[in-house]
Amino acid sequence: MRNGPVLFVFGLLAMVISWGCIVMGSVKQIGTLASHADLMTGALYPVNRPGTAHQGAEVYRELGCNQCHTRFAVQDELSFGAELTKLGDATNSVELAVAALLKVNPEWNEAKAKDKLNDLPLTMVERTIPYFADRAVKLLEAADAKAQMTVYNLGADIERGWGARQTVARDMIYDSTVLAGTQRIGPDLANIGTRAPADHVGAWEFTPTVTNIVGTTTNLTNLPEDQRLNWHLVHLYDPKAHVSNSIMPSYRFLFRAISREQAGTVSGALKFPSGKGPKTEIIVPTRKALALAAWLMDQRADTSLPEGPIPLLAPAPEKTAEQKAAKDEDKAEGKS
Ligand code: HEC
Repeated sequence: MRNGPVLFVFGLLAMVISWGCIVMGSVKQIGTLASHADLMTGALYPVNRPGTAHQGAEVYRELGCNQCHTRFAVQDELSFGAELTKLGDATNSVELAVAALLKVNPEWNEAKAKDKLNDLPLTMVERTIPYFADRAVKLLEAADAKAQMTVYNLGADIERGWGARQTVARDMIYDSTVLAGTQRIGPDLANIGTRAPADHVGAWEFTPTVTNIVGTTTNLTNLPEDQRLNWHLVHLYDPKAHVSNSIMPSYRFLFRAISREQAGTVSGALKFPSGKGPKTEIIVPTRKALALAAWLMDQRADTSLPEGPIPLLAPAPEKTAEQKAAKDEDKAEGKS
């Protein structure tokens, strides 16, 4: 073993270099990620979870929910489109726009193009490559109209309504243990806090719905918070109460059953959908159940980030001078 020391040095080098690349490389890439401050509002995202939700993360880990659920919305690609928002002021603005529209969409005819102009903003092209979107904008701008490119996030997860954008590393910087999950026996939970659970009352299936016109937060639930909390609690107690063919296990041990006679003035009992739930008992969540539900409601990656943009829809077209005047008149009348 004359070459022992040399071998040792090479072995050590191989280990140090691979450790450096794998560990230090990742630390350099994502170890220093901080919350992102919104340019317009200055609001920070992500922020640390409120106390109960923080405890809920531990319950999620303890119960192994990540065996069946991921928390990672995947996005395939960006798709581009172009929108016409306003016509020019010239007297022949309609003709100019129609001529440009026919170049953008050669399969349209004049009558169709004119008809489409009645309803602005008009989507001229969608789901295309940047070149065609850009070309449409330039053609319309040359015709004195106002047009802009639109960007859509695309991908199966986005189309299922599981999020407005992909999940990125920054979403997880406040997770002490990142449980992204690997199997999708149940739906992805990265954005469960933004979804209306009521929309999911029904068989869980992969039917792509076109809810991915990103920027419209159509999935944002308008249900009052207490109803959403109740939905999650009932679902944890008995998933079949909401989704009749659910294969999700029920987590009844997170709840206490109290017989109706003894219940007295106990508050916070679950409200089951009609015909569901036990007849003779009321069901009260334990602190663990409340923490887990709070954590679920806190799962919302609906903030646009530089590495995970949520493109905005075109702003509403500016009001014409007559519309503005009419509005001012209304205001003046209201005041007097
Ligand atoms: C054996 C696999 C499995 C385990 C373990 C599991 N789930 Fe589920 N989960 C499912 C399936 C399947 C569905 C879809 C049917 C349904 O809504 O009940 C689902 C649905 C859900 C939904 C509704 C999602 C939506 O988009 O409507 C939530 C919330 C949820 N699970 C939370 C949890 C939590 C929290 C845990 C851990 C305490 C957990 N799940 C454990 C399989 C599982």
